[in-house]
Amino acid sequence: MDAITLLRNDHKTVEALFKRFEKAGDAAYVEKREIVDRIIEELSVHAAIEEQIFYPAARSLVPATEDLTLESLEEHHIVKWVLSELEGLDPKAERFDAKVTVLIENVRHHVEEEQTDFFPKVRDALSRNALGDLGDAMAEAKKTAPTHPHPRSPDAPPANGVVGAIAGVVDRVSDNVSGVAQGGLAAGQDLVARIMGSKKPKTSPTGSSLARGTAKATRTAANAAGRGTVATVRTAKSGAASTAGAARTGTKATATAARKAVGTAATAAKKASTTTARTAKASAVKTKTSAKSAVSKTAAAAKR
Ligand SMILES: [Fe+2]
Ligand SMILES: [Fe+2]
Repeated sequence: MDAITLLRNDHKTVEALFKRFEKAGDAAYVEKREIVDRIIEELSVHAAIEEQIFYPAARSLVPATEDLTLESLEEHHIVKWVLSELEGLDPKAERFDAKVTVLIENVRHHVEEEQTDFFPKVRDALSRNALGDLGDAMAEAKKTAPTHPHPRSPDAPPANGVVGAIAGVVDRVSDNVSGVAQGGLAAGQDLVARIMGSKKPKTSPTGSSLARGTAKATRTAANAAGRGTVATVRTAKSGAASTAGAARTGTKATATAARKAVGTAATAAKKASTTTARTAKASAVKTKTSAKSAVSKTAAAAKR
């Protein structure tokens, strides 16, 4: 499927969900929650594949779309914030319907601009093959794209490809969606392989020169981010090692101090018990003596 047909189909899916929400009764809280959850997932995936593949490709291949790309990223940014607020909002909350209404207005405006201005420019400038390759790449990216909004994450290359791939995996694990392992992003695999310290898998991209170029750019971006991650892992490892060293030294010192303290306490206890024993003996002797004298005194008094 070509890129523009794929994106227009996504728009139709979301519009159908918007219509369902608008028809739902005011008190249909369960239904409204379910519709909004689907809107969140559809729009998160759609925004991710546009940001990871369509916008960067359009921007570099069709210079006339430069401003449209930047405006689109800003519109996506606002939409993702609203989506992230809706994720945690009770459908019974007084602002829930208002927030969804504003979301729908924003998305409809954005979709209108893409379909009447942005997409035609891309369709006019690119060959059918190129549009097909872009469509294939986006269909593949959909399998691992984030299913939740990440408004704080980078939305432009090179960082968004890698962060998006990781966010997608994390989202899908938390959604309990199987098939993460089948994910088609070689870039993500490269990154994971790097972190695990194994050799980079040798995958040779196929397809048109556009597809190969996109794959190469993604790979380069992933490698750059991977190096950062590896450096972070190394720093963390050496930090952990020195912390462990310090902890061992600390433990040793504590143990020595504890042994010393135990020794001192034992000595003091021995001394104390010796003193107590001596005192006890002395007082026993005294008691015996005074008892004897009392007995002899009593006997003398009895004799008298
Ligand atoms: Fe968009
Ligand atoms: Fe779109």
